[in-house]
Amino acid sequence: PPPLNAGPAAWTSSKPPLLRFLNACHADFTPESSGAVADYIPELGKADPSHFGISLATLDGHVYEVGDTQIPFTIQSMSKPFVFALALDTLGAARVESVIGVEPSGDPFNSIRLNAENHPFNPMVNAGAIACSGLIHEAKGDAAFDYIRQALGRFAGRDLDVDDAVYASESTTGDRNRAIGYLLRTNAVIKDNVAAVLEVYFRQCAILVTARDIAVMAATLANRGINPVTGEQVLTPYAISRTLSVMTSSGMYDYAGEWIYRIGIPAKSGVGGGILAALPARLGLGSYSPKLDKHGNSVRGIKVCEALSSHYDLHML
Ligand code: DON
Repeated sequence: PPPLNAGPAAWTSSKPPLLRFLNACHADFTPESSGAVADYIPELGKADPSHFGISLATLDGHVYEVGDTQIPFTIQSMSKPFVFALALDTLGAARVESVIGVEPSGDPFNSIRLNAENHPFNPMVNAGAIACSGLIHEAKGDAAFDYIRQALGRFAGRDLDVDDAVYASESTTGDRNRAIGYLLRTNAVIKDNVAAVLEVYFRQCAILVTARDIAVMAATLANRGINPVTGEQVLTPYAISRTLSVMTSSGMYDYAGEWIYRIGIPAKSGVGGGILAALPARLGLGSYSPKLDKHGNSVRGIKVCEALSSHYDLHML
């Protein structure tokens, strides 16, 4: 700290310890060069692999930011927990649970395999997320996407836009997700027009966020659904707690067991390069770095979460 008789400028430039830790993470992991930017959605391949931002939001509404925390990128699979929570509150838990399981699949995110009841294993894999978008479409019809976009905006504390190019790119190439959609319809998980449901899903994945937004969204999950910056109760504590439960067991796909064993913080990744981590009653973390490992998880983002968990002893168990 600066000397006690230093002027106010010296005090404001002194960095709080948490920010010093985040700065050290950013410096330590910037040289990490492994992984590859996702390009199965062609437009995602244009991301700048050098971008790296880390943001952490505490439950008193303080937001720390280091690096590229204001660069917009698409939310992708990090939309899944929020749309699941929204489906629970919109249609009721019984309706949602009647068509989507809560068991980890052990499969990659894009697996076409369903469970023994021919339902998606859980809402974190593509099949379960498409089923959630289908439920919202069932409840809201043509207004489904805007209903989702507005709800995610309340988690972030600001209105969120869509990357139309990424949306169009996934919509023209997303045949595997379409195949999953038809499989869900033949098993009565989706009741509506499959093409319309998939458009909702592709659009929700193309919602633009920053690492800072993700930190605030994660902190809202960690805060039983109350956005710590705006003070708004976005969804019910019930929906939030069930969402964190499935994030804990399945948020990191076929790396979920390893993740909860080693890091012990509920988390969700997206192929856009984001990782969201929410430690109940403690904090929310958002990171952005587009190079991914073979599971589709951001390489630098994983390193940040590992360091945060071990440095502050945050493993929840
Ligand atoms: O459906 C897809 O393949 C993408 N829109 C989202 C996948 C994703 O983010 C997987 N996460 N790591």
